[in-house]
Amino acid sequence: MTLTHPNPSLDALIGIPFTHERVLITTGIRSGLVITVAVHSTRLGQALGGARMWQYENWTDAVADALRLSAAMTLKNAAAGLHLGGGKSVIHLPLDTELTDAERRDAMLDLGDAIESLHGAYMTAEDVGTNAELMAVVKERTDHVCGLPVASGGVGEPAEATAAGVYASIVATLEALFGSREVAGRHLVIAGLGQVGGRLATRLAAAGARLTVSDVNLARQDFAAELGATWVPVDGVHHVPADLFVPCGLGGVLNARVIGELNVLGVVGAANNQLAQPEGAAQLDARGILWAPDFVVNAGGVIYLALASEPNADLDAVAARVEAIGDVVTQIFTDARGLGITTLAAAERLAAARLDAAR
Ligand SMILES: NC(=O)c1ccc[n+]([C@@H]2O[C@H](COP(=O)([O-])OP(=O)(O)OC[C@H]3O[C@@H](n4cnc5c(N)ncnc54)[C@H](O)[C@@H]3O)[C@@H](O)[C@H]2O)c1
Repeated sequence: MTLTHPNPSLDALIGIPFTHERVLITTGIRSGLVITVAVHSTRLGQALGGARMWQYENWTDAVADALRLSAAMTLKNAAAGLHLGGGKSVIHLPLDTELTDAERRDAMLDLGDAIESLHGAYMTAEDVGTNAELMAVVKERTDHVCGLPVASGGVGEPAEATAAGVYASIVATLEALFGSREVAGRHLVIAGLGQVGGRLATRLAAAGARLTVSDVNLARQDFAAELGATWVPVDGVHHVPADLFVPCGLGGVLNARVIGELNVLGVVGAANNQLAQPEGAAQLDARGILWAPDFVVNAGGVIYLALASEPNADLDAVAARVEAIGDVVTQIFTDARGLGITTLAAAERLAAARLDAAR
């Protein structure tokens, strides 16, 4: 029998072509949760990407997220010059699920078993909804995990390194826009004051930047006041006239409406998958807004996890690699200008060249 009318909904849900090497979708025997481990590419080495545990309406949404995020990890790791491929794992929490500590532990043991069954094709680490302590539980079932707590002999959380890479990218973007790397006196609008955004805001305030900040978590207002930053509500944050908009919350923030309403010269932030649609890169370009591609800007965490976890790691050398993200951002701006392409296309070109060289 020929299937003449394939259901197009899975394609529409994922939104990107299926180019993955291997995808494991399994129901955890302890937790009963649907776990997806997506290995997008091992061309440059073992696939590395975090484990996300998050609420989604349907398990298929979680699978789609794993497919998108793992493909982005291939680009991120390649653009960062790491000898690592791209992968991601996503644990689906049905809406309104609150896990107990015991249930969370079961989910991590199930994740460890799923990863172990891939025989080293994929290495995990913490991501949204997980942390270094939970990675220590994964370690009970597999060695293919990094970012364990320092107390367990691991390298800890990567947020400091991610913030350092975003800071270097901000300086590179200011230089491209104003011909000066000076942060003092520049006005930056930060949306999201979490692990990364909070550290970044502290550093920028210390360097003399003028900050406007926002977070869905209103408890962060006290922190904003300590920094001397101006607090604005979340729904108005992208309207604020400033030099740079710095998204550090969840992804998808740059949709067509938001891009149309931005009142800045550049966008540089930690958030993953900032563009709601890839066309957003051209829209930003057409508005004369310089966008530093997220997967280049926020690679500090993965660079830290990968290189600091190596035996006898030289932490000064790791910090220098994170700092060099600024040079990659400058290169992408130069390529984009020279070739008349978007910064997204220039960053994808850089990653593709590294992947092609490994063929
Ligand atoms: N932690 C890392 O090392 C790392 C590495 C690479 C990428 N990222 C990405 O950076 C972003 C931030 O990561 P994090 O570790 O700081 O996460 P986090 O959960 O600690 O912080 C996110 C913050 O953003 C806030 N937030 C959520 N939605 C918001 C919105 N619409 N407007 C304003 N604030 C909002 C949350 O309340 C929270 O305070 C995420 O997109 C993450 O995927 C993080």
